[in-house]
Amino acid sequence: MPSLLGLSFLRGGKRRLCRLGPRTPTARSGNDRPRRSNRTSNIGNRNWKGLGMTRVIETRGITKVYGANGTAVHALCGVDFEVERGEFVALIGHSGSGKSTLMAILGCLDTPTAGTYALDGQEVQGLAGAELARIRNHKVGFVFQTYNLLPRADALRNVELPMLYAGLSRKERREKAMDLLKKVGLEGREHSLPGTLSGGQRQRVAIARALANTPTLLLADEPTGALDSKTGAEVLDLFRELNAQGNTLLLVTHDPHIASLAGRRVEIRDGLIASNLEGAA
Ligand SMILES: Nc1ncnc2c1ncn2[C@@H]1O[C@H](COP(=O)(O)OP(=O)(O)OP(=O)(O)O)[C@@H](O)[C@H]1O
Ligand SMILES: [Mg+2]
Repeated sequence: MPSLLGLSFLRGGKRRLCRLGPRTPTARSGNDRPRRSNRTSNIGNRNWKGLGMTRVIETRGITKVYGANGTAVHALCGVDFEVERGEFVALIGHSGSGKSTLMAILGCLDTPTAGTYALDGQEVQGLAGAELARIRNHKVGFVFQTYNLLPRADALRNVELPMLYAGLSRKERREKAMDLLKKVGLEGREHSLPGTLSGGQRQRVAIARALANTPTLLLADEPTGALDSKTGAEVLDLFRELNAQGNTLLLVTHDPHIASLAGRRVEIRDGLIASNLEGAA
């Protein structure tokens, strides 16, 4: 999912292939054992469950290859990545580095070519499309740069939709959607169509929709990328508030200021985790 405004576009047709053979020391130390002080990756792969720890994301050796043979693009080259419950992690990296590809896999919108992924303790690789869609609907809320709202449905119906798929009654859907729209500051705009809302308001509807089924994980791919800086800051405040309330948040951003507000910043470079920095920037 390359951004047309991104460098991948400027770089033209240059394809990326994963490095063959042993990785460089830098790539290995970045990807295999990220710099971290008190994190759980020193513990064996599955022991965290036994210790009652709450890991929402755990990937091992995730690769993604688009195309085949002469046209193959190796978007991810073996990503080992973890996110604990309640974390706010910023995913950064140059255009074309593989951020959106990783987000799509973490959000069960796409499947990896190889590797394993446990979402909230459940291995999801190899699951059929319908099962993956069910998990996605229940466990993941996705916020996109361009909102992806249904243009002919008002704010309320956009927020209700994931709950319809989840089988909630009409009354439950309505009540929860009203609550969520209030929570994101859109009380009174329930019956507005997306086309009549500002960019920031549309993104708030998208955030309310992402929260509809009380997801385990909130994924946001450049959620402020289409907004002016003031509106972007307001949307970011909303994300921070949601994180303070306990929501686990993984956010892709090109903005160093936004990244600096996250509890952890993970850089992806050429399809590999290149660095992992904790604490305030
Ligand atoms: N559907 C696709 N088919 C072929 N190649 C793809 C596809 N989607 C992404 N790619 C390629 O995979 C690589 C990683 O793309 P990705 O969209 O994950 O990058 P990104 O880090 O999100 O970039 P940006 O910051 O521009 O959004 C790029 O080389 C891109 O061209
Ligand atoms: Mg992207």
